[in-house]
Amino acid sequence: MALILSGKEAANVFKKEISIKVDRRLKDKKKRPHLAAILVGNNPASSVYVNGKVKDCAEVGFLSTLIRLEEDVTEIELLKNIERLNSDTEIHGFIVQLPLPKQINEKRILLAIDPMKDVDGFHPENFGRMALGLPTYIPATPYGILLLLEYFGIDASGKRAVVLGRSNIVGSPMSILLSSNSKFGNATVTLAHSRTHDLELLTKSADILIVAIGKPLFINQSHVKEGAVVVDVGINRVDGKLKGDVDIDSIFNIASAISPVPGGVGLMTRVGLLMNTLLAADDRE
Ligand code: GUN
Repeated sequence: MALILSGKEAANVFKKEISIKVDRRLKDKKKRPHLAAILVGNNPASSVYVNGKVKDCAEVGFLSTLIRLEEDVTEIELLKNIERLNSDTEIHGFIVQLPLPKQINEKRILLAIDPMKDVDGFHPENFGRMALGLPTYIPATPYGILLLLEYFGIDASGKRAVVLGRSNIVGSPMSILLSSNSKFGNATVTLAHSRTHDLELLTKSADILIVAIGKPLFINQSHVKEGAVVVDVGINRVDGKLKGDVDIDSIFNIASAISPVPGGVGLMTRVGLLMNTLLAADDRE
């Protein structure tokens, strides 16, 4: 029977720690950390994510500002909003929720964000710093996964880790962090993707399997080694219900630990963003 890596339980503990640090800041006459989010259009999933981030801010004592822009906003208008947030000294950090509508060049948008305020860690400067092991904002989802593993006492050092999915937001940074020479890292990592041959053979060799491919219930008993730790990053809507990329029932008696969907990585991603926002505020004062 697998241990359930409850993001809900871990997130509550980390959020309590963050709120204690906010109280400490206020006692020291420092400002409340302030996160802003730009949400373009009406993508239902993005609205849910951003609303969750705003709710978390209130819970830990941060201020938050939500800027909603129409689906047909021009790139210039979006860039103006970014410039405004870059120069607003009341805002410690901000994010532009992805994905963006097709008239917007995502790379240009991410480049326009002041790296000091880029609490998603998506700016090339921050991504490069992460890859080199320099102080930076670690992208929220990999950061949340590392905190989840730490909370449940799972040490990646020396283990064989397989990361499934090579996105800039999850798979690619996750593989870099797990292989880094740091307290969260020191694993032997393989990054697998849609062109990988003999996937089952590869995933079956993993002590730690991180799945971020966006295919509902794709991973099952034929992919998982006895005693493996399986982290499910998938959030797929199937018949109105949220399903991960892992068929949790089929591996429940094989894996030693599994993160559930919902109630797993999603909540920890939000913790990663809060941690980065607190860091942005601490760096400025
Ligand atoms: N879309 C999906 N995940 C994320 C995230 O972590 N940050 C932003 N900005 N957009 C996302």
